[in-house]
Amino acid sequence: MKKIFHKDWSWLEHWANRVYTPMYNPLYHLGAIAVFLIWVLIISGIYLFIFYEISAKGAYSSVQYLTEDQWYLGGAIRSLHHYGADLLVIATILHLIHTFVTDRYRYWRWVAWVSGVLLLWLIWISGIFGYWMVWDARAQLVATLSAEMLDKVPIFGQPLSIALSSNSSLSNQFFYIVLFIHFSTPVVLFILLWIHVKRIAMARVNPPAGLSRAIVGFILLLSAVKPVELGLKADLGKLPVNIPFDWFYLFIYPPLKHISASSLWVIVIMSSIFVASLPWIGKKKRFPAAEVASLNCTGCEQCMMDCPYEAVYMAPKKNGLLEAKISDRNCASCGICVGACDYAAINLPHFAEEAMKQKVLRLSQELKASGMHPAIFTFVCERGVELKDILKHDKEMEWTRAISIPCIGMLMPSITTIPLQAGVQGVFIAGCQVGDCYYRFGNEWFAQRLKGIRRPVPERDFDYSRIKLAGFSVVEIEDFLISLNKFRDELGQGV
Ligand code: HEM
Repeated sequence: MKKIFHKDWSWLEHWANRVYTPMYNPLYHLGAIAVFLIWVLIISGIYLFIFYEISAKGAYSSVQYLTEDQWYLGGAIRSLHHYGADLLVIATILHLIHTFVTDRYRYWRWVAWVSGVLLLWLIWISGIFGYWMVWDARAQLVATLSAEMLDKVPIFGQPLSIALSSNSSLSNQFFYIVLFIHFSTPVVLFILLWIHVKRIAMARVNPPAGLSRAIVGFILLLSAVKPVELGLKADLGKLPVNIPFDWFYLFIYPPLKHISASSLWVIVIMSSIFVASLPWIGKKKRFPAAEVASLNCTGCEQCMMDCPYEAVYMAPKKNGLLEAKISDRNCASCGICVGACDYAAINLPHFAEEAMKQKVLRLSQELKASGMHPAIFTFVCERGVELKDILKHDKEMEWTRAISIPCIGMLMPSITTIPLQAGVQGVFIAGCQVGDCYYRFGNEWFAQRLKGIRRPVPERDFDYSRIKLAGFSVVEIEDFLISLNKFRDELGQGV
């Protein structure tokens, strides 16, 4: 079932790539977009706070001043804050779906997943209390419904519903508490965000500048076309009617019409626990962590610099020099560290480098012996197009042999020359989707190694024209075949 969702999602990314290009595809930057939106909310929130009056009498009129008298700036910033908050929920939910359907939430990623669920809670809590601050009819409805829920939680001295029972029972202290919650949640959010990306090396927390500008432009346009409105002032003596609803933040409240607040708490808590425990449900066998051959390790640190999940660290050897060590719980078994090491000092137990080289050599010799010309050796990332889909085209493509490897980042330039030395004319390397590598940096590091700007670099007489690197997601088999055939045509013209 998840495989189907994965393919559907990959098609979505495929079409988004056509529109935005992989560099600016928002579906590849959802976590970073969420971080960017948090900054937008903080900056716009500071401006709103300058004019906000923290009192039962003044809260509404200060928001009214911003919306109506200062519509050109205060009103626009209020809209930016409101739509930015809505977009944050959309970006975060899509980010959750992306990590789930693409199977990026288990094992070493569980910390990011569980803290992500808590982040989602915080966003909702902060947003709901943000609504209270406006103190219009919608705020009154949200506050009354929230009070019904919060009265079941013994954290407030007296039931909140008493504070909300009449206009006269409403104190300034109430607004201080609301403001405190609305302001303190972002602080906790940043602490959680730090935990969220702690096991992720060089986490991408900033979207490309062009994408950030487009997001701000989009929200400003939305704000101009449909500025955020202000309802009538809250009146606890009357029932609020005809309230515009915000499904992004208030979706949990409608069930209160049918079930009790306690039952709703049970449902919300149980579903959060269920989502948070997904990394341990239906767990498949995890591959063993990479291993270091201490004798071969020169302590150059390249494997540590290339590891996408902070799984490699350096420790002193007996002779005082450094050697690489692997943290088993962080290791993704992707093999990027293997590709970073030119000294055979690091290996994947389930996919040994030497065995891979032998297989490449054997298949290359077989290809040479077949007499096909030009012949191409193909490396395929097992997270991109599937080998079984390629093998379906065996008959019309006898001029190629392919092997699937855990990650393209496992390759170093010297491996790609094995087929060439065996007499094969070209090497085609198909990574997973460009811009969204499953192991984050596999495609990028290998491309840099080929260009000679990242170690291990190619030999001096390396023939680049005979090596082609491209990326394809699991649904892009057609694109893969077109690209491979085109490369063969190019090689054919050159020989
Ligand atoms: C405020 C909300 C959130 C923000 C700002 C955020 C931000 C980020 C960022 C910046 C990354 C690193 C991306 C990279 O460099 O590859 C990341 C990774 C991740 N996030 Fe979130 N996130 C949020 C919520 C969530 C939620 C709700 C979930 C799921 C429950 C989640 C699950 C993950 C996972 C599993 C990863 C690791 C992905 C990988 O290893 O490729 N995040 N997040």
